[in-house]
Amino acid sequence: MRRKLLLDVGCGEGKCCIDFAKKGYDVVGIEKDSATFKKAKLNVDKSGVKKFIKIYNKDIREVNLNKKFDGVLFNYILMFMSEKEAQDMIDEFYKKLKKRGEMLIRILMFDDPIAINVRQRKKFFYPSYDKMKKLKRKYKGELEFRLLRDKPHGKNKFSHIHSVGILKIVKNK
Ligand SMILES: C[S@@+](CC[C@H](N)C(=O)[O-])C[C@H]1O[C@@H](n2cnc3c(N)ncnc32)[C@H](O)[C@@H]1O
Repeated sequence: MRRKLLLDVGCGEGKCCIDFAKKGYDVVGIEKDSATFKKAKLNVDKSGVKKFIKIYNKDIREVNLNKKFDGVLFNYILMFMSEKEAQDMIDEFYKKLKKRGEMLIRILMFDDPIAINVRQRKKFFYPSYDKMKKLKRKYKGELEFRLLRDKPHGKNKFSHIHSVGILKIVKNK
């Protein structure tokens, strides 16, 4: 059976790349941070599914992918862009979906308890509920909002709660 092709934008240390490769996808991962990319490479190398994963140390805004995808994943990345960049990114990669291809966007919302104090938040997207609803209408997607518990990571030494928007879009034509 043909393996489906997934693009993981801002793939971090490669966790989703590996999970999806194990589920039967060929995966292209893009990660702009060199140190994170190196960790992703090590994780992919020892994953047992290395042959199904290609990762690139690039900024997604500078990548030219002449391919169509069955799936595009934006897992906690679009909030690091301006609203305009995030919107352009969704438009651009919607066009790169095959018919019935799926896009999954998980994003921290404007009221995320951790992000709320981040100074840079002002110039980044961190959408309001209304903005997510607008995207849902534009792409006829399915939208849900959740509070999710996260393990300690980075500067957050304790487990903590995130305010998350999850938008699933399926391309119908
Ligand atoms: C919060 S992490 C999420 C990582 C991964 N998607 C996950 O869910 O485990 C966001 C990642 O996106 C990367 N990133 C942010 N902006 C990017 C861009 N313009 N192009 C490529 N990667 C980017 C960051 O370096 C970081 O590793």
